[in-house]
Amino acid sequence: MIDLTLSYPVRSLDNKLLLPAGTKLSAEIINDLISEAGNVSYEKYSLLKHGTIEKDIPSFIAVPPYNVIFSDKEVIDDLLNFMGNVYLISPVIQSLDYFRENDSYTYRHILNVFALCVHISKVMMSDHWVRLNEAANGPMHDIGKICVPLNILKKASPLTHEERSILEHHSVAGYVLLSYYFQHQEDSFALVARDHHERLDGSGYPRGIKLNNNIVDIITVCDVFDALISDRPYRSAAYDNRTAIEVITEMGEKNSLNREVIKALVSFNRKVKTHYMVCKVSLEKRGKPPQYNSYGVFNDENN
Ligand SMILES: [Fe+2]
Ligand SMILES: [Fe+2]
Repeated sequence: MIDLTLSYPVRSLDNKLLLPAGTKLSAEIINDLISEAGNVSYEKYSLLKHGTIEKDIPSFIAVPPYNVIFSDKEVIDDLLNFMGNVYLISPVIQSLDYFRENDSYTYRHILNVFALCVHISKVMMSDHWVRLNEAANGPMHDIGKICVPLNILKKASPLTHEERSILEHHSVAGYVLLSYYFQHQEDSFALVARDHHERLDGSGYPRGIKLNNNIVDIITVCDVFDALISDRPYRSAAYDNRTAIEVITEMGEKNSLNREVIKALVSFNRKVKTHYMVCKVSLEKRGKPPQYNSYGVFNDENN
């Protein structure tokens, strides 16, 4: 079982306290939480048919760099068709509504990561059910952000160390929330939420473990890529596609992210599509990161 203690409470969207700060996440605690949930069975909804998602996804992937990744009409049709098979339980759908209304970046990020995961898993996973499982992780990986105050999620200036730690709480919070909603100890979606900021070389959080899970590998690459190429309040501009790919390639070289998944991402970014297995990834560095970028900078350095 995992060795983690909650630094902050985990609350559901309807403000029910699931676990207080200071809780040590043992198998027993998670089991107690699950039995407390008392066999509730949640309605499942088609993700694509919910709210404005069926319109939003095509519009999000129509702008650079996604317009190159999804340049082919056949690819888009296949993507939407596959997405139509993804059904999610009501609390997850409600979290998407929450982000759409309160934090449009996270809403867009979740759907972009979803689209990219569906596309990458198509070339890397042959089993339909494994792929569906991978796809469903996209909309759920950041669900723990419902436990992070919006003023931190949307802060334009550098975070304090305390705010950074509250932000990082989202991975463990997601693990607790999804274990609770799926009423399952070691639920696979909960594990992805918990581990999507871990890295292959152990340089991630919350535990700093060496990631060893191909489902999480795809999510982590898609997650980092979308975070880099998206407009964020804390920097002057997004990374351009070339620089983002270079940053990710370097992370692959340092054994932080999975190189096979990076190859798939790079092959999709080329105008002439080659199979990812034969795609050669350039190690040349010519891109320039955006000038003002406060990510990783703290405003209480001396504290
Ligand atoms: Fe995250
Ligand atoms: Fe994310």
